[in-house]
Amino acid sequence: MSSDRGSVALVTGGSRGIGRAVVEALLAEGWVVHFCSLSPESVERTLAALEEAHEGRVHGHAVDIRSQDAVNSLVEQVAARSGRIDCLVNNAGLGRFGPVDSLAGDAWREVVETNLNGAFYALRAVSRVMLEQGDGWIVNIASLAAKNAIAGGAAYNASKFGLLGLSEAAMLDLRHHGIRVTAILPGSVDTDFRPPSRRSSTDWMLAPEDVARAVLDLLRYPARALPSRIELRPSRPPRG
Ligand SMILES: NC(=O)c1ccc[n+]([C@@H]2O[C@H](COP(=O)([O-])OP(=O)(O)OC[C@H]3O[C@@H](n4cnc5c(N)ncnc54)[C@H](OP(=O)(O)O)[C@@H]3O)[C@@H](O)[C@H]2O)c1
Repeated sequence: MSSDRGSVALVTGGSRGIGRAVVEALLAEGWVVHFCSLSPESVERTLAALEEAHEGRVHGHAVDIRSQDAVNSLVEQVAARSGRIDCLVNNAGLGRFGPVDSLAGDAWREVVETNLNGAFYALRAVSRVMLEQGDGWIVNIASLAAKNAIAGGAAYNASKFGLLGLSEAAMLDLRHHGIRVTAILPGSVDTDFRPPSRRSSTDWMLAPEDVARAVLDLLRYPARALPSRIELRPSRPPRG
């Protein structure tokens, strides 16, 4: 894979939090970066903040990744405009929490359709572009909730356990074609993911830039090496 200046990345959920930090880190390394987010306002705000410093290298798209057709069309547009896709960061996601017996079907669907189905649509569409190129790297932002169940986490855990399974099966399918697939499993990161009421003290949490650094570190591995699962924890969480 070429991860030199001018390489092309697609980051889902790139307007805020972890995705935004990944977008900025890749831009700082000279990449051409396309990102998508759900709301057009969020895309516009992010573009307004980044365009001046990175003119012509940052592109925003308002896309709901729960729509298979919208994701396919996004990937077609990115490949057509920038000629290739060297890296996909499957990051867009959300959480809805509550005891399983009272979890609304709509909340379940929103979480699973975003965190799992959306990631699958993007992975599949981008993998077809990368198969033609013969190289690429797909990074799936899972969570420690992909292996540790939490009370009230039925939908979120199901989506992230599923994403880890998708990531590792895709890794086995695609590595023979020069495409590397990695799941990053962060612990708590200080973003808007948690409502302000549940963020009294955030000093101990990871910063979004820590996850972005893990992505950049991955891209520097030589072609023979494939870290397929990275667990990234706060080093000093509150004692439970
Ligand atoms: N924060 C944590 O503690 C933590 C820990 C482990 C893993 N993660 C995972 O990391 C990822 C990013 O989390 P974050 O904390 O950075 O969240 P965040 O700050 O809430 O940002 C979420 C991003 O996802 C986008 N998004 C949500 N639904 C979408 C959809 N249907 N289509 C397209 N974009 C959509 C949002 O777009 P808009 O701006 O348009 O709403 C936003 O850009 C998630 O997958 C999350 O599960 C987070």
